[in-house]
Amino acid sequence: MIIDILTLFPESFSYLNSSILKRAQESGILTINIIDIRTFSKDKHKKCDDYPFGGGAGMLMTPQPIYDAIKSVQKENSKIILPSPSGKTLSPSLAKELSKEEHLIFVCGHYEGIDQRIIDIFSPLEISIGDYVLTGGELSTMVIIDTLSRFVEGVISEESLAEESFSNDNLEYPQYTRPADFMGYKVPEVLLSGNHAEIAKWRKQQSEQKTLARRPDLIKGKK
Ligand SMILES: C[S@@+](CC[C@H](N)C(=O)[O-])C[C@H]1O[C@@H](n2cnc3c(N)ncnc32)[C@H](O)[C@@H]1O
Repeated sequence: MIIDILTLFPESFSYLNSSILKRAQESGILTINIIDIRTFSKDKHKKCDDYPFGGGAGMLMTPQPIYDAIKSVQKENSKIILPSPSGKTLSPSLAKELSKEEHLIFVCGHYEGIDQRIIDIFSPLEISIGDYVLTGGELSTMVIIDTLSRFVEGVISEESLAEESFSNDNLEYPQYTRPADFMGYKVPEVLLSGNHAEIAKWRKQQSEQKTLARRPDLIKGKK
């Protein structure tokens, strides 16, 4: 999968070059390109924002540099994504759908956002990462990429995906590692028993209890 990120702040993206996403890029599963929108500005000072018509607070990203930046990478199979508080809320099923795409283009809004005509021209898929407002689309782009990448084949194991929170409409059970006794806090006996059937039963129970207590809305039929 190829991901092109269009942004005014290319320095924001070092996270994508660490840990699991770094390995996915090194093994050729993912290619992530960061493209500076400012380099496309035809303004002599490379300006990319201006005051909104009609007045109001803040600045808006102008359409020309974004238009040219998109055109420089857009192909027939490209899906354009605009992180936005007005978008469809990110969910595991949406992330899974996006993980099947061959080419994603993310347009990071900043300031008060982007000129509406970019939305009218390209009809991007607008995605929100929650009902709150960030200062820019850089963080939300990283959240969306991180989430969808986990569903791209080869990025993480099938087993990890199957056991994770939300995968079975449940939250994950509590997890423990060494030491078995930490300052008197002991790991539940069953996890040390080596009895895989009992361990699976305990984890299922824990997972269901936790979901019922914290997120009953996730349990099917309880909405
Ligand atoms: C300050 S926000 C603009 C908010 C916009 N004026 C509004 O009221 O909807 C700047 C940029 O941050 C990103 N952003 C902010 N909140 C977001 C959210 N909840 N989900 C996804 N992106 C978000 C978007 O890219 C947005 O263009």
